[in-house]
Amino acid sequence: MNYNKIKKIFLNFFKHKKHKILKSLSIINNNKEYSNLMFVNSGVNKFIDYFLNIKKSKYLKIANIQKCIRITGKNNDLKSIGYDNFHHTMFEMLGNWSFGKYSQKTAILLAWELITKKYKISKNDIYITIFKGDKKNNLKFDYNSYNICKKLVNKNNILFFGYKYNFWKIENFKLCGPCTEFHVDIRNNNDKINKLGKYLINKKNNNNVIELWNIVNIKYIIDNNNNIIKNNNPLSNNYIDTGMGLERLCMILQNKKSTYEIDIFIPIIKKIEKILSIKYKNNKKFDIIIKIISDHIRTIFFILLEGIIPNNKKEGYIVRKLIRRSLIYTYKYININSPFLYKILPILFKIFKIKKNKNIINILYNEEKNYFLILKKNIYLVYKIINNKILNFKLNFIDYKLLLYFYETYGLYYFIIKKIAIKLNINIIKKKLIINNNIEII
Ligand code: SER
Repeated sequence: MNYNKIKKIFLNFFKHKKHKILKSLSIINNNKEYSNLMFVNSGVNKFIDYFLNIKKSKYLKIANIQKCIRITGKNNDLKSIGYDNFHHTMFEMLGNWSFGKYSQKTAILLAWELITKKYKISKNDIYITIFKGDKKNNLKFDYNSYNICKKLVNKNNILFFGYKYNFWKIENFKLCGPCTEFHVDIRNNNDKINKLGKYLINKKNNNNVIELWNIVNIKYIIDNNNNIIKNNNPLSNNYIDTGMGLERLCMILQNKKSTYEIDIFIPIIKKIEKILSIKYKNNKKFDIIIKIISDHIRTIFFILLEGIIPNNKKEGYIVRKLIRRSLIYTYKYININSPFLYKILPILFKIFKIKKNKNIINILYNEEKNYFLILKKNIYLVYKIINNKILNFKLNFIDYKLLLYFYETYGLYYFIIKKIAIKLNINIIKKKLIINNNIEII
């Protein structure tokens, strides 16, 4: 089932269930009074006022497919990109919401109907996780969810988790509640027999039983002292926020083991292979580069489409960071030192059926070109600084502080300083560097 059909089925399903279907709204977070998040990181971000009863929604049942970006804040996936098979800086979230209109039971049954009847995911491959309660925060076992779910799957396919996994707090938005999650086992039959999928859920490095749909019953409000208090709204049981990752759903339905292999990524990856003359799945390092670029270019594309210009502030800084990150990886591993990302954009216009906009291609080209000029200039400058310190100040090693200074002031990564150090015959003591989060060692 292809990407477009998967989206269409979702939207049609909720349309038939009398939901108002909205378009993907802007990826810029315009709810800044609650949160300093720059980008929307979940579909629900756009509807906070309705949950808090600050505004009344014209529609009480809504569904949409929202582009979300997770680069900053608590839900920050940047470091995983390239190194695993299904994290992305941007993803599309399929979501449905009820503002006092339907209950947790309806939400779970709707989700179940869609994934088993319309998407035809086998019932045996679905695991459901339920909130088991939390004494510290005086939160009860989600008995209601259990009663519903035990009628859907075999009891062995139900697992119970606490505050960490099955209690959802919407970052900075004051809302929270128990969540019921659907996970899907994507392994082959032999592997499923050898080890039950339930042992893999919520485990690190598990690429096989994938969290698919998060169904949150927004029951509580977080007050200014960070206490969880019951939402006084009498309809609070009927406040629902759900989110399912589109890329993961495509991966499951297209029988792939990685979201980078779904139909929308294939043409992007092919284009990158061609431009950089490298092959995907031939070499580990190249795979990391290809995944990073294919992920980042899609995010860069959608941020630029919002009219954001790369610069040193807020959203502009984030898009600049993604551009530079893509360039520095290719610079390091395949010695590319001229613009190339802009050449990938035409394929994105095509995949996402967006009218070609030459302006953003030019913006990207200029940003890339400038970065290489700055890089060249700064390498020369730092070379001179280090040489001067050796000659005039008897510098005999480059320490962590100096590395950090070169990174923060001149944007030079460790591997570049190392090259300079080799040329100047000086050592680097980098012990502390490994634990510093501000500097990426690539
Ligand atoms: N807000 C929840 C999530 O991000 C459900 O949409 O998963």
